[in-house]
Amino acid sequence: MKIKRSIVIFLIVFQIAASNIAVAQSAKTYTIKANELKAEIQPTMWGVFFEDINMGADGGIYAELIKNRSFEFASPLMGWTIKRKQFIEGDVQVLNRKDVNSANPRYIQVTATNAVKGSLSLTNEGFRGMGIKNGLRYDFSVMYRLKSPGVKLHLELLNSKGEIIGEGLLSPETTGNDWKKQSVSFNAIAAEPKAKFNIWFEGNGVIDLDMISLFPGDTWKNRPRGFRADMVQMLADMKPGFIRFPGGCIVEGRELATRYQWKKTIGPIEDRQLIINRWNTEFAHRPTPDYFQTFGLGFFEYFQLAEDIGAAPLPILNCGMACQFNTAEFASLDEIDPYVQDALDLIEFANAGVNTKWGKVRAEMGHPKSFNLTMMGVGNENWGPQYVERLKIFTKAIKDKYPDFKLVYSSGTDPDGERFDDLNSELRKINADIIDEHYYRRPEWFMQNVSRYDNYPRNTSKIFAGEYAAQSDKTVSPNNKNNLLTALSEAAFMTGLERNADVVSMASYAPLFAHVDGWQWTPDLIWVDNLRTYGTPNYYVQKLYSVYKGTNVVPFLSNNQPVAGQDGTFGTACIDKKTNELIVKFVNTSDKKQDVNFKIAGVKKLQPKGTLTVLTSDKPDQVNSIDEPMAISPKDQEVDVKNKEIKFSVKPYSFNVIRVKML
Ligand code: AHR
Repeated sequence: MKIKRSIVIFLIVFQIAASNIAVAQSAKTYTIKANELKAEIQPTMWGVFFEDINMGADGGIYAELIKNRSFEFASPLMGWTIKRKQFIEGDVQVLNRKDVNSANPRYIQVTATNAVKGSLSLTNEGFRGMGIKNGLRYDFSVMYRLKSPGVKLHLELLNSKGEIIGEGLLSPETTGNDWKKQSVSFNAIAAEPKAKFNIWFEGNGVIDLDMISLFPGDTWKNRPRGFRADMVQMLADMKPGFIRFPGGCIVEGRELATRYQWKKTIGPIEDRQLIINRWNTEFAHRPTPDYFQTFGLGFFEYFQLAEDIGAAPLPILNCGMACQFNTAEFASLDEIDPYVQDALDLIEFANAGVNTKWGKVRAEMGHPKSFNLTMMGVGNENWGPQYVERLKIFTKAIKDKYPDFKLVYSSGTDPDGERFDDLNSELRKINADIIDEHYYRRPEWFMQNVSRYDNYPRNTSKIFAGEYAAQSDKTVSPNNKNNLLTALSEAAFMTGLERNADVVSMASYAPLFAHVDGWQWTPDLIWVDNLRTYGTPNYYVQKLYSVYKGTNVVPFLSNNQPVAGQDGTFGTACIDKKTNELIVKFVNTSDKKQDVNFKIAGVKKLQPKGTLTVLTSDKPDQVNSIDEPMAISPKDQEVDVKNKEIKFSVKPYSFNVIRVKML
């Protein structure tokens, strides 16, 4: 027995030794020159791009559970069901007071007549149901005017069987003709992913209701009527360098009237005028008739979110042009001033003292300190000479007042073609600070274009890779998947962004969030349902780049050449001056393992153990999902560092991040 065990141990030891010799003999050598500091990597290098698409804001991060709380959707009672025992004409009326309140004109008037349970109720279906957690507090609030007293509101959370899983009671107080806001909190007694909310009326009376609202008690930083903490945490975990917001196409609007106007998204929530979300109707194959923007996530909240997660804010403003794929409606040049004024006022709102008009508004909303806004985008995916002539007007006005403020200009919808070339040269003629390039392309494109920036002009305009995502099928196809291959092709492309950090100062994947039951566009970085979230393999690529960003690029070479696709491999290296670490990122997009030997020159001493983080799977088409959120996720292991060499076997289809302390 003992002899057998010894033989087995001997065989195992022999196999390990043999495989190490094999790595050593066939390993490909890469040289890292750790003391040759190249480009500085900007603190803003890796960021996120937030747009209210795929129910990212309403129905997503903005934790409001009631859909159409103020009856301003195109169909005023969309999302609500009225149940009554006996029909009484006019018992629930939608009323409009547009002359006194044009931002929030509609409300409902309920007349209860000897009402008991079962007589008259209003049920809200939530965005795709409501995610309810057992034991959690839920905060109900409503604005009302009691026209005739004697009516009470019974509040009920219902599970999918219609059973009550939480209840409260609101007894309205006398109001006169003014609106009053009242809140009631209660706890849920069971969990439910697709709950509904029911209000039934008791007694006799007439009451006007508006802003009927329900929030979970566990919002991010416990802010009342705030954000889903799990979704914000996913962003915070990425340690993003910046957050670009609020779009994307919603900045432009289908037509100018539905463009994003930041001034309408601040101040008291009941005064923020709702508009249709352009993703409501954009894709005939993914219609979302109940998609509107309530602006619960408005510009103040965007700035606050940026501050919370340590990201520089990067707002994008409409440049006086609606989406050129839709109406292509342009503000005439003699009427462009209000658009320019919005940009100037936004800088004041974000940064100026509390004694200024807009600084005062910010302070009244609870943030007297500046939000330190240093940059802004003018236009999203706009193009053509009409765009350039508008940009010139914006630029003059903004730079005259704020000479150091950085402006981001769009280079259109595509990273190549005539429109791109024309715009690229025009934007450089007007000394663009930062040019925003977008690429929605197949994975092969990302791998083939890793050297895109190697020959870009240095020391002039910086590049912002503002929206990019590899499409496993094709752009806007509902069949696109966030699979491992797409993530690896992005990781490969990002080695080229990092290597050219003197040209590329910012980059962000797009879009950021998608609700599994309410999306219009795929692929997306983070998927959610009403209670859960998961990161895609693409999310982990973004996170690894951002968390292990480093401060300076150093050469990472094979045969004196950058590692940019040889045998399906891509690599880059940097050091982090703050942590004294050497960081190597290495992508193997091939189906074969690759034995490597990283030889590190230009350092006195290295810690004998480093950390290797690997993101991989046997199957390049594998995805994560709500039920298998971590199927593909980074795993850490130790690597030996001997004689300033790191040798290991790189798995097929893998993204590898190696970190080692320089002593
Ligand atoms: O990210 C989705 C959309 O793609 C953005 O709104 C737009 O800028 C781009 O075309």
